[in-house]
Amino acid sequence: MQQLAPYSAYLENEINAIDFPKDPSNLYDPLRYFLSLGGKRMRPILTLLGAELFGESKENALSAALSVEVFHNFTLIHDDIMDEAPLRRNRETVHTKWNQNIAILSGDVLFVKGYQLLVKQKPEHLQPLIELFNKTAIEVCEGQQMDMDFESRKDVSIDEYIEMIRLKTSVLLGCALEMGAVIGNASETDRKHLYDFGQNIGIAFQIQDDILDLFADPDKFGKQVGGDVISNKKTLLNLHALILATDEQKQLLWKLSTETDYQVKIDKTKALYEIIGARAICENEMKKYHSIAMKSLEEIQIGDSAKQPLKALAEFLMNREL
Ligand code: IPE
Ligand code: IPE
Ligand code: MG
Ligand code: MG
Ligand code: MG
Repeated sequence: MQQLAPYSAYLENEINAIDFPKDPSNLYDPLRYFLSLGGKRMRPILTLLGAELFGESKENALSAALSVEVFHNFTLIHDDIMDEAPLRRNRETVHTKWNQNIAILSGDVLFVKGYQLLVKQKPEHLQPLIELFNKTAIEVCEGQQMDMDFESRKDVSIDEYIEMIRLKTSVLLGCALEMGAVIGNASETDRKHLYDFGQNIGIAFQIQDDILDLFADPDKFGKQVGGDVISNKKTLLNLHALILATDEQKQLLWKLSTETDYQVKIDKTKALYEIIGARAICENEMKKYHSIAMKSLEEIQIGDSAKQPLKALAEFLMNREL
């Protein structure tokens, strides 16, 4: 990730410089707090890299990059309410530190702030940028609804799961990159290739997120380990475990879904997934989507060295611990 450090530093500075009013403090303090907690900032980096790939400067893509990060932070604040998550980026979530109503409203403000930042881009790029942003924002909501609907379903297929994570997570990575391509005046074909690269990296990224949710080192992860098991999320681990399980293991897994002692639920589910071999299968699936993504990147008729930073970021995401 060393190669990308200048981009992170640049973005961190610019994110801190986003100006929010002082009052009402219960609206603005929470979002200032949340934005200052860091995070990998990978989506805005993707926008900057997307623009640079087509010869545009990162400075000219900055406000679009910030808009994507601000939108992402809005989705996280609301996602943490929906997932009843206590911890994010190693700190208390907004609804835990303040309350749910405050988390809803400060999230809403961030959503609008995302538009305010986006419309700072050059007028000739606004139509495609806003169309892309709108389509993506609606898809993220669709994915989030599917994610919640799946919690109480027992018959979710792998295809349905992939579609759910494509919507809730991957389209935003595709959008971040395509925005960069729009700003760099890329051809329609190259825009599409870059979007597809982002989408498949996004699928691999969410599969990794599912694995980390249960198997990460709690000291490094920054989120509650086992949260997906507690809320009976249909993760790829869960789906593959159920496909491979013996009848007896299946019974055990279904029984665990109603276990009220959360530590017991997490420990026993984790042990079963390991025995069944679900983790290894998910890791292979993740690699599969990573290589599909690489093929889309290869389709873009630009020299290999210009693609190096994007490859480095994709590689980092596959090996991350948080
Ligand atoms: C978390 O995204 C939400 C998912 C789509 C899994 P990140 O893992 O990129 O979160 P931050 O921004 O780095 O905290
Ligand atoms: C979140 O998926 C996707 C969005 C925020 C849209 P998760 O619920 O798995 O993300 P984390 O694990 O809380 O970061
Ligand atoms: Mg969540
Ligand atoms: Mg969620
Ligand atoms: Mg997760």
